[in-house]
Amino acid sequence: MIRAMRVVIADKFPENYLLEFRSLGLEVQYHPDASASELPNVAREAEILVVRSTKVTRETIEAASRLQLVIRAGAGIDTIDVEAASARGIYVTNCPGKNSVAVAELTVGLILALDRRIPQNTAELREGRWNKKEYSKADGLKGKTLGLVGLGSIGQAVARRAAAFEMNLVGYTRSPHPELAQSLGIIPCSTLFELAERSDIVSVHIPGNSENRGLFGESFFSRMKHGATFVNTSRGSLHDTAALEKAMRERDLRVGLDVYNPEPEGGAGPFDHPLCKLPGFVGTHHIGASTEQAQNAIAAEAVRICREFVQLGQPLSAV
Ligand code: MLT
Repeated sequence: MIRAMRVVIADKFPENYLLEFRSLGLEVQYHPDASASELPNVAREAEILVVRSTKVTRETIEAASRLQLVIRAGAGIDTIDVEAASARGIYVTNCPGKNSVAVAELTVGLILALDRRIPQNTAELREGRWNKKEYSKADGLKGKTLGLVGLGSIGQAVARRAAAFEMNLVGYTRSPHPELAQSLGIIPCSTLFELAERSDIVSVHIPGNSENRGLFGESFFSRMKHGATFVNTSRGSLHDTAALEKAMRERDLRVGLDVYNPEPEGGAGPFDHPLCKLPGFVGTHHIGASTEQAQNAIAAEAVRICREFVQLGQPLSAV
């Protein structure tokens, strides 16, 4: 007897969308707490695998002999061994643009939190102390220069929000798009170092691929203004943590991070990171994409890709 194609969803996923996979005639297996080491077993009989943060290693690809399609329920594909998948003819797709607003909103949140030191304010109030004197010296954002590295959908969404704060915008991208920059009011920089020198705040919105690994290190931070701000809501592999720590200690750099290198596997556990203890730091737990709006949009896109796959035998866009 021929069985229905099986889709294995190996991460937390909005449960109301599971029914939609079933309506495509797929057999659905939902494993919201699967870890990377459990995945080879969990995905063994799957034709389609949907993951958010769980890493898809070569071992999983090799164990899942029926696998035809991996859907990354997010934008970045750095958690998938694409080379191993391609070698076996397995399609890999992602859901670009679906969580851009969520990431942009968190980015603006970190920028505001750093300027007004909101977490530090709250911590003192919690400890029962009133300290208006200490916290009455923020810079303010109006008229400050925000340097955007990367002008994809997230960089653009941050630019629109920063414009509403009347900030000046400069930008750097490897594939310049002058009309786009102009329409967003962004002055292009010809090098990353130029952007570092001109910006009061730098915000990073590029993929965490091998080309970009360690792009933000000592030579970049030493060109930033004394007391400037660096925000990374993209990938932890982009910055050098030791160089960031040095710049925080020696140049009063303020740092807002949603992403780290490495990040612990799984949803909760100990995390001992050197920057988190420094006073100029504000951080979150890689939650940029974690709004209900974004997760629903991603779930709908994953269903759409599956529909395409069921109807055509292949997704129309694969990485
Ligand atoms: C992304 O790659 O879009 C995000 O990192 C996804 C996520 O954390 O869910």
